[in-house]
Amino acid sequence: MELTYSTYLKLDRLLDLQTPHSDPEEHDEMLFIVIHQVYELWFKLLLHEFERIKRDFTANDLFGAISAFKRVRTVMKTLVGQLDILETMTPMSFSGFRGRLETASGFQSAQFRALEFVLGQKRADLLKGFDGKSAAHAMVERRLKERSVVDYFYDFLAQRGVAIPAPLRARDVTLPAVPNEEVQEGLYHAYKDQPDVAILLELMTDFDEGLQEWRYRHVKLTERTIGNKIGTGGSSGVEFLKKTLFRPIFPDLWAIRHRF
Ligand code: HEM
Repeated sequence: MELTYSTYLKLDRLLDLQTPHSDPEEHDEMLFIVIHQVYELWFKLLLHEFERIKRDFTANDLFGAISAFKRVRTVMKTLVGQLDILETMTPMSFSGFRGRLETASGFQSAQFRALEFVLGQKRADLLKGFDGKSAAHAMVERRLKERSVVDYFYDFLAQRGVAIPAPLRARDVTLPAVPNEEVQEGLYHAYKDQPDVAILLELMTDFDEGLQEWRYRHVKLTERTIGNKIGTGGSSGVEFLKKTLFRPIFPDLWAIRHRF
């Protein structure tokens, strides 16, 4: 059969995947489903792009990493911008179908958790949120145990003359990546002496700021839509989400900015 737009993109399957649960149907539930599915697709792409970034870091490919970070930071900006669309849904409209979500929550997004782990924000206890026999659990566990982008970033920096302390190179990669003053010192000099590397470091900062911005906007979206109700995932809701704010992916990049 001749390949067409529709068969290439498997549109029959894709467009058959939006099934509102409300009855009678609440108009905005379609938006709610579509936007979450779109986020999952972007998460898929981000995971894909970070595999490339790891390869670029290993190969000391600065320009590859620059173009890849330019892409992921632009996706991140889109992820933030898309929340505006969901904010056109009122609390009244959401409460019309929220009960139908039962205990379903973004907290159970395996790809979001994988993304955090890929970026070095590891927390083994979060695996408990997934059924131990599920493919999602296996995937998130694999991400927990593999080296993060931060570890590959150290490999790259070492090739660019930044001294990476031995304990950092041998660290337990299932634990969160931590800031380090020696790395900060090296980054400071890289900024001053290697302007091409500085371009990459700024793009990484853009991405980092973008993810923090998404978390903040998601808190405000939640607050304006459900106020102080508890989450469908069983957390305290807004108060729980606030604890995830202002946690950078690359703390070393933030720690040196006052020195210039
Ligand atoms: C009306 C819209 C939304 C509301 C009211 C809402 C509410 C919440 C709440 C209360 C939590 C905390 C866990 C819980 O108890 O359920 C949560 C977590 C989460 N939500 Fe949303 N959310 C909304 C839209 C979205 C969208 C569009 C996404 C995009 C994928 C998303 C992704 C997530 C993720 C990834 C978490 C886990 C965050 C973490 O553990 O750091 N949410 N959400």
